[in-house]
Amino acid sequence: MSVPDHDPAAPPDRLIVRGGSTLEGTIRIGGAKNSVLKLMAATLLAPGEYNLRNVPRITDVDLMSDLLRATGCSVSRSDDSLVISVPDEIEPVAPYEIVEQFRASIVVMGPMLARCGEARVALPGGDDFGPRPIDMHVRGLTELGAEFDTAHGYVHARASNLLGARVLLEFPSVGATENLLMASVRAKGTTMIDNAAREPEIADLCELLNKMGAQIVGAGSSTITIEGVDSAEALHAADHTVIGDRIEAATYLAAVGITGGEITVKGARHEHMVMLCQKLGEMGMRISPDADGIWALVPRRLSSADCSTLPYPGLATDFKPFLVSLLATTEGVGIVTENLFSGRFRYVDELRRMGADIRTDSHHAVVRGVPRLSGAPVRSHDIRAGAALVIAGMAAEGETVVADAGHIARGYDDIAAKLNGIGADIRPG
Ligand code: UD1
Repeated sequence: MSVPDHDPAAPPDRLIVRGGSTLEGTIRIGGAKNSVLKLMAATLLAPGEYNLRNVPRITDVDLMSDLLRATGCSVSRSDDSLVISVPDEIEPVAPYEIVEQFRASIVVMGPMLARCGEARVALPGGDDFGPRPIDMHVRGLTELGAEFDTAHGYVHARASNLLGARVLLEFPSVGATENLLMASVRAKGTTMIDNAAREPEIADLCELLNKMGAQIVGAGSSTITIEGVDSAEALHAADHTVIGDRIEAATYLAAVGITGGEITVKGARHEHMVMLCQKLGEMGMRISPDADGIWALVPRRLSSADCSTLPYPGLATDFKPFLVSLLATTEGVGIVTENLFSGRFRYVDELRRMGADIRTDSHHAVVRGVPRLSGAPVRSHDIRAGAALVIAGMAAEGETVVADAGHIARGYDDIAAKLNGIGADIRPG
């Protein structure tokens, strides 16, 4: 049965978390937000009907659906599938009203440029942490022959012919790698992306692109080689199942670390989060791969450990808010270092309101675990920080009221219902 994309029941603005429960049981993750948004963008490369499965019901997917519709596509949801119908002609414009709401929209630039020879994309907004420039996207696409100008808040990219080139990224940027991949699929000749991002979501995108007729090798490694296909007809629509969301999985693993208990996170792939599992093991969690998931047991209060974020396969920056919530309750002192985004510690002020003992200095946080947090009114500033406050509330004495919980719904499909299924006590307020 087809249902409208926009759930008539808007996500709750507040979540009320009652602390004190222990988590037990099985929790299932959905498809990866950071993959599905790029897979949706990739459909712009060729006309036809695409069926994406394991698509999470999150507001960022609704926003990307609106963006695709603005280009002329039709998008409809049926259970966990998204059917995207891409017409023979698309309008290569990403309007400000949509782009300002989520930064991932910048990844339509590569496919639009490849398909139409131009792209007009509003300069992105996005999460509430630090500046998020697109200079590496622009530099890489320029090496493939694109020309750029910026006016009235829009970036206008043009290329009558994209030509394969060797592009060395200054940093393994996820978004820049994705834009370059999608543009170079139609470039004449061979493109080699060096120092490419290695995230599992990049490999997922390459898998769909190859199903569509692209010729990409090396996905998941630092060097990706793309043999351009020279005619539009060589690319076609395809179906694909989105990989599981490792960041959602990390949220639940940190949650059980905080509350204690024993859970299995179904759909999570241990090989996508080895470094995190290693770190949680170092803290005292028993954790191992399970059939179609990850099993975790917390036998006692965990001990602190130092954590430093790095590009994949390092500890993801998106895991950091959960790790800070966890370290706020573990025994000892942990130093958390952010190496990717400046200013991504804003939620720490909220955790302090709950009695956490955290000091920040530039891109470091020194977290001294306390035996018990104390429930308080707090505010969610972005997706992951909001989720981190919810899981902190699960270990706090009394009630924690998380305001602006709509941010959480951008990346989680009903986090309250899922966590309640393994013993949490969270209700909309
Ligand atoms: C993606 C993820 C985000 C994750 C991040 C890093 C999505 C929708 N978002 O974001 O959840 O935290 O990867 O794993 O997939 N940078 C520049 N210039 C550029 C591009 C990036 O300076 O042109 C900098 C950024 O400011 C940041 C770092 O590079 O400091 C990493 O950014 P990048 O890997 O591009 O992250 P996103 O693709 O935006």
